[in-house]
Amino acid sequence: MAINRENWTSRTSFIMAAVGSAIGLGNVWRFPYIAYENGGGAFLIPYFFALFTCGFPLLMVEFMMGKRARGGAPQAFRSIRPFMSWAGWLACLCAFIIVTYYCSIMAWSWDYIWYSLKLAWGGDAGNFFKHHVLDLTSGPGVLGKIQEPILIGLILTWIAILAVLWKGIASVGKVVLITVPLPLICLIILAIRGLTLPGAIDGITYYLQPDFSKLSNPRVWLAAYGQILFSLSLGQAVLLAYASYLPGDADIANNAFLTGFINCGFSFFAGFAVFSALGFLAYQIGVPVQDVVKSGPDLAFVTYPTIISQLPFWAPFFGVVFFVMLLTLGIDSAFALVEGFATPLKDATGIRHTRVVLWLCITGLAIGILYTTRGGFHWLDIVDKYVSDFGLVTIALAECVVVGWFFGAKRFRKEINDTSEIRIGVWWDICITVITPLVLGVTLILSLVIGIRQPYGGYPQWANWVGGWGMIILAILISVFLGMKFKRKETE
Ligand code: PFF
Repeated sequence: MAINRENWTSRTSFIMAAVGSAIGLGNVWRFPYIAYENGGGAFLIPYFFALFTCGFPLLMVEFMMGKRARGGAPQAFRSIRPFMSWAGWLACLCAFIIVTYYCSIMAWSWDYIWYSLKLAWGGDAGNFFKHHVLDLTSGPGVLGKIQEPILIGLILTWIAILAVLWKGIASVGKVVLITVPLPLICLIILAIRGLTLPGAIDGITYYLQPDFSKLSNPRVWLAAYGQILFSLSLGQAVLLAYASYLPGDADIANNAFLTGFINCGFSFFAGFAVFSALGFLAYQIGVPVQDVVKSGPDLAFVTYPTIISQLPFWAPFFGVVFFVMLLTLGIDSAFALVEGFATPLKDATGIRHTRVVLWLCITGLAIGILYTTRGGFHWLDIVDKYVSDFGLVTIALAECVVVGWFFGAKRFRKEINDTSEIRIGVWWDICITVITPLVLGVTLILSLVIGIRQPYGGYPQWANWVGGWGMIILAILISVFLGMKFKRKETE
């Protein structure tokens, strides 16, 4: 383990970096939709419940585990139970798998900044996205050629990641001072524009109208937990790696509360920008709002461009603002994901930081080329589903078990309180030992049962095996291998 480890230059840099990794594409295209689907305004109840029982406790776990181990995910697990370091390596691999496709979404955003200038999607943004930008094949079995504009965007993205990570954590601390506020400024511009359009109020009403009957459905509560986990970048190697550069006396509880509140506040606010625009679209084409509600890539690359074309003035400007927002939202999440793997790799192997980062970027780009092919989108969809359903939940569960049961919740809480301004109480122990592992365990079992019963998304079973189960099993095997291989180095 490196002895002269660099540190964050200030507390603000660390918080901004943690917030930057948390605030990502998911805040804009996942939260508003999930909130709308699961009870609108009433969803805030399970959402805040999940934030307090799982979000904050796990943020504290990850910040503290990384800080005390002064190492990334595998070292953090190993420092509590040596045989658990595989879970840390699994976290690194999941982060790396995610970043390979996260970057291709950013590649589309680069292209769409360009397309926005001329509103190149014309009258049918759906057709443009599917048949021109992606030129999607009939299924994952047909890869087809590489789409050059996407490849160019992908190369630009990886160059940006390399440039940021090259100088280590100090430059991350500086770059996030731009990449965190910039998307917020873009979002404010879009929210003001959205809220001043006709139909906006209908959209907002749809977003927030509380449907309390939904709260009796356990799926709504599981959705809240899933969203909290993904949104706060928990269950991955990222926050553990970032926390490993914290100085010994760094505050844990307060930093966790700040990160959680800023991230969830951003999500809530994003809902206003998104739903006001959806209300306007529904008004323009004369349909009910629920007919235009979409999430994920469809929202960003089909529905939003359609809305932009309908704007009365400065349409290209708002298009550029939207896609610059997506890019800057994504970039700090992307380099966090790479750093999550780079930190433990350099600690375990002793190889120089620049070399590790260079090789990770080259490998990430090479794997990412798969997603630039005409059939790439099918694979992106499958891989995303399995990593977020199984990878993150498994790792977060492992963290609860290791900290709550093996190390002892009370003892760990005392360590947190030793350097925290806000002292946390017994509620934290209950969350980490009982509530969170229970919910995560149920989520995992449910996802397994559903996943085994029916192949995801109507894709053929073999594709689910290759991009889903096969990938997860392979990642676990590699993690166990890495855990054994670097046993000696990490404990030195
Ligand atoms: N939290 C990000 C989002 O909500 O979009 C996704 C993510 C980014 C997860 C970075 C994990 C991560 F390390």
